[in-house]
Amino acid sequence: MSPTRLTLIRPDDWHLHLRDDTMLAVTVPAAARYFGRAIVMPNLKTPVTTTAQAVAYRERILAQVPVGSSWQPLMTLYLTDQSDPAEIRSGAASRLITAVKYYPAGATTNSASGVTDMRKAYAVLEAMQELRMPLLIHGEVTDPAVDIFDREAVFIERQLQPLMADFPDLKIVLEHITTREAADFVAAADDHLAATITPQHLLFNRNHMLVGGVRPHYYCLPVLKRDLHRQALVKAATSGNPKFFLGSDSAPHLRHTKESSCGCAGCYSGHAVLELYAELFAAEQALDKLEGFASLHGPAFYGLPTNTDRIELIAEPWELPAAIPAPGGELIPLRDDQPLQWTVRSLAS
Ligand code: NCD
Ligand code: ZN
Ligand code: ZN
Repeated sequence: MSPTRLTLIRPDDWHLHLRDDTMLAVTVPAAARYFGRAIVMPNLKTPVTTTAQAVAYRERILAQVPVGSSWQPLMTLYLTDQSDPAEIRSGAASRLITAVKYYPAGATTNSASGVTDMRKAYAVLEAMQELRMPLLIHGEVTDPAVDIFDREAVFIERQLQPLMADFPDLKIVLEHITTREAADFVAAADDHLAATITPQHLLFNRNHMLVGGVRPHYYCLPVLKRDLHRQALVKAATSGNPKFFLGSDSAPHLRHTKESSCGCAGCYSGHAVLELYAELFAAEQALDKLEGFASLHGPAFYGLPTNTDRIELIAEPWELPAAIPAPGGELIPLRDDQPLQWTVRSLAS
């Protein structure tokens, strides 16, 4: 019998897009509902490349945290060809920057200012290795000759392996992994390498996106793969291996920008991140592994304390809204049309 109620140390989200300005009024309260912290992605329209920009962005985020919540944003810098090691050093010294994000130029949403050639970032990576600051990677090649379903596996061979050979002590998180190749590679690597896994890549495969019509709300990057890859990710996430942890990649795009002839990449799961993971772990009879994945492995990799208070998950279904109002339109929350099976409650501390 699977449990109908369990408590967890308060979880954190190690990969989150909050966007900016008025959208923060939707995304920040959603994240602050029960998470302790979130790694905030820096791919704003004007990327967050300096500590000064990150500090100002953090202030805009904090202004939207509901009273009574102790949720904290952990800020990241966006790596570009021009990034300066001095900026990374001062960001680390200020303790306001937790990690640096590497987007291959053109790989995903707002990645146009990303790195065009990894060698251009080597001085920065040298500094990060020394500072023990993690590099967070969107791991897909952008070579037009490489099929979109193969871009992650090819990235591991062409870019990640050489990078790890050149920087053996650099801490790296391969973000939002989507393939068996990535799960196997991360599991086999030493403990400088870890990975986040999203709810959509654990719950859905490419059939959900493409059978019976194109369903743009399942479209994100890296794109959903065959079910054998999903199964490998499920095995990794529920294995108890500390290299795998929660990163929702909740990435809001207004409905009309996704339901379009050239729809944006990104799934919005911010309304129910933990509920979605809990459903998967329950289906796998692995609820005993959820606390490690959601609350323990991430802080251990980042060298941060775990949260000290707890939340409660109750097997109590709730209907998710078909759409969530947002400034300028609405967001379509991730999943099919089934009710969610789990309800999260914060426990009084
Ligand atoms: C993300 C976004 O919209 O910012 N989109 C996505 O499909 N995952 C960017 C990213 O994480 O690659
Ligand atoms: Zn990405
Ligand atoms: Zn992302």
